[in-house]
Amino acid sequence: MTPQQVTDLRDFVALLEERNELRRISPEVDPHLEIAAITDRVCKGAAERRALFFKQVRGHRLPVLTNLFGSLRRAAWAVGLEEIDQLRLRLLAELTRYGVGSAAERFCCLLAEPAWQAQLVADGPCQEVVMDSPDLRLLPALHCWPGDGGRFLTQPLVFTRDPETGRGNCGMYRVQLFGRDQATLRWRPGSGGARHQSAWAERGEAMPVAIVLGGDPAAIYAACAPLPDEANELALAGWLRRRPLAMMPCLTNELAVPATAEFVIEGLVEPGARRMEGPFGNHRGGYDPAAPAALLRVTAITHRKNPLFPATITGPPPMESGYLAKLSERLLLALLQADFPQIVDINMPIETIFHGVTLLAVRRQRDGDIAQLARDLWSRKPFKRSKLLLFVDGQTDVQDARGCFWRAINRVDAQRDLVHDGPRLAIDATGLPAQPLASDPAMKALLESRWAEYGLDG
Ligand SMILES: Cc1cc2nc3c(=O)[nH]c(=O)nc-3n(C[C@H](O)[C@H](O)[C@H](O)COP(=O)(O)O)c2cc1C
Repeated sequence: MTPQQVTDLRDFVALLEERNELRRISPEVDPHLEIAAITDRVCKGAAERRALFFKQVRGHRLPVLTNLFGSLRRAAWAVGLEEIDQLRLRLLAELTRYGVGSAAERFCCLLAEPAWQAQLVADGPCQEVVMDSPDLRLLPALHCWPGDGGRFLTQPLVFTRDPETGRGNCGMYRVQLFGRDQATLRWRPGSGGARHQSAWAERGEAMPVAIVLGGDPAAIYAACAPLPDEANELALAGWLRRRPLAMMPCLTNELAVPATAEFVIEGLVEPGARRMEGPFGNHRGGYDPAAPAALLRVTAITHRKNPLFPATITGPPPMESGYLAKLSERLLLALLQADFPQIVDINMPIETIFHGVTLLAVRRQRDGDIAQLARDLWSRKPFKRSKLLLFVDGQTDVQDARGCFWRAINRVDAQRDLVHDGPRLAIDATGLPAQPLASDPAMKALLESRWAEYGLDG
């Protein structure tokens, strides 16, 4: 199996197993804290950070999968590639087909191509089993941290649509489960789901929602990709996969969901229906406090035969979500390079990725152009809330974050090289020493030829 042949979570599991990137755990484990604690330890380096397949989950008959996307390699495989930078190269090459406009506008044109639009199909495995009486208690949802408010779906794809335009949205928003048939949807203000909720509430109508677990890993990534508002997540999944995503109509509402999903939870949010959700352990190392969130009343649950139950753990980095974010970093770099060819590479270190720190290698042309570039970037959506932009020269490897901080500390004159804009800071560390230290080329070649002779390896 190759990454490009993957169509659903089962193919992805088979690929990970083939490539020795997944461990099956046989002893019974508890969905209350234990699975999360094991996964956290693996994300921090145990078991070579492999994906985990928990075969026996206490109180349930279904297996739970975690950390599927938890490495750069696996994140690349999930979207059909062998290596994440292929994503940048592909986007950069394809953007050239769309002549005018900013890179973001051209990206939207690319995603609007008919070839990438999801297509309705009449039949698909996601409805192989229809629960007679929908019961959320049958799902092995995880309680991740001791202070969490309960059991959550942590890797859900939440489908909604705009009541006026009919345009759909698919976002990854956490879902807390309550009893047989209630769940809360915690979408941030401004997110696609939150905008749709307001639009339905204004009309005084109940909003249809479908929550999906599993399916094509490219769609799972697309649900959490920070796309321009006009861009469609499912088209991104189609573009990544080089074929449209197959969608099935829901049973109890007019939404459609990926045909190869493991689970589909259909429901309605009545106007103004809310319930307290949380607390929930977050990536900043604390808890999001309990707060009111949209309340869903479940109308149907369908699933595949022998369904898999995917989950992720949120918490201090490194965690799985950081690797998904690295895919977005590569897409963002392609868009940046299309507009600013002087940008050689960027790195949003996993420890800082959700806090707006970006290291940028740039070819500097004139004095003052770094300050201008910082301002141009801050005016764009991905960098609006950026805390720190650190610019280094085009030869510096920004993937080596330690090296970048060493350079910044050594080269920066705080009077001259810092650019402030409200809470945002940019550091211009592009200046090079008059005579940079570098090994003698002849000595480098000599070491290359004699290295084995010194007997230092092995
Ligand atoms: C594991 C994970 C969990 C997330 N949880 C939430 C969440 O609970 N609420 C939220 O608004 N965004 C959450 N996000 C971020 C959104 O998925 C992301 O911002 C996405 O682009 C939202 O799509 P939208 O722009 O269509 O709203 C999460 C992302 C990941 C990777």
